Amino acid sequence: MTNITPVAPTLAVVGLGHAYGGIDDTTIAETGPAAGTSKHARTGTVVAAWDVSFDVAGGEALGVIGESGSGKSTVMKSIAGDIMPTTGRVTLQRGDGTTAVITEMSPAEIRALRVNDLSIVHQNPADGLDLRITAGGNIADRLTAAGWRNFAAIRERAAELLTRTEVPLDRMDDPVGSFSGGMRQRVQLAKALANTPSVVLLDEPTTGLDASIAAGVLDLIRGLLDEFGLAAVVVSHDFSVIEMLTQRCVVMQHGRVVEHGLTDQLLEDPAHPYSQRLVGAARA
Ligand SMILES: Nc1ncnc2c1ncn2[C@@H]1O[C@H](COP(=O)(O)OP(=O)(O)O)[C@@H](O)[C@H]1O
Ligand SMILES: [Mg+2]
Repeated sequence: MTNITPVAPTLAVVGLGHAYGGIDDTTIAETGPAAGTSKHARTGTVVAAWDVSFDVAGGEALGVIGESGSGKSTVMKSIAGDIMPTTGRVTLQRGDGTTAVITEMSPAEIRALRVNDLSIVHQNPADGLDLRITAGGNIADRLTAAGWRNFAAIRERAAELLTRTEVPLDRMDDPVGSFSGGMRQRVQLAKALANTPSVVLLDEPTTGLDASIAAGVLDLIRGLLDEFGLAAVVVSHDFSVIEMLTQRCVVMQHGRVVEHGLTDQLLEDPAHPYSQRLVGAARA
């Protein structure tokens, strides 16, 4: 078996916690799986995520699985710098070897990080693309934000990415709004890879697609993750997606990690009753 324990993690999440509302000593104790809810009864505070730690190496994909409301998007938003978590630390190793402490960065620094080092693939392509402009234009936007200036080089890079994500090049100059859902998602992947980020976050990347289309996009994502050596975090409520894309995963329930391990082993022999239920649903 290959050793998949990260030696020098590209992404490290340590003790991450985020609450919507004030917290005190009892808020944490009185929420979570044992309490059966992430919402504190007395104060109404939602402890959306608490005590979440994991790391991801380059070339590795980690899954975050849980039902709606379990805290997955809160973890993703904290990594992306969209929200400032209540507690914890998120670090990212940039391609140039420097370390970004995301949880200590200014909004301007976060914006630069998102252009150069960290990409997000949203469930809804409209959140990651401008549907009014062309496929090539969407990719060019990302490249120019990162400092690319040569028109021919931008065009060539966009064509290369669209080819790699299996978007027909004769659609390159069509507005993305005229594309099918599956094709939009391929363009979003091309844009996400444009600047060779070191980390990519995929939030329910195929949930909005028909099953037949989703299978092709999942295949594509798996190939891209292998090829580009990215550190990826894949969020899904669906264990079959996590199985296809990830080597390790964490299971979240009511804002807490209830189980973590190798994806294959967890699917084979889930220890926590909640994991067992999720595995059962994927096998049904
Ligand atoms: N802006 C917000 N204000 C208050 N509660 C929120 C907010 N965003 C999310 N929540 C709550 O936090 C919990 C976790 O939500 P979320 O991270 O979106 O979970 P998931 O992505 O797993 O569905 C849920 O109970 C949700 O209602
Ligand atoms: Mg979510």
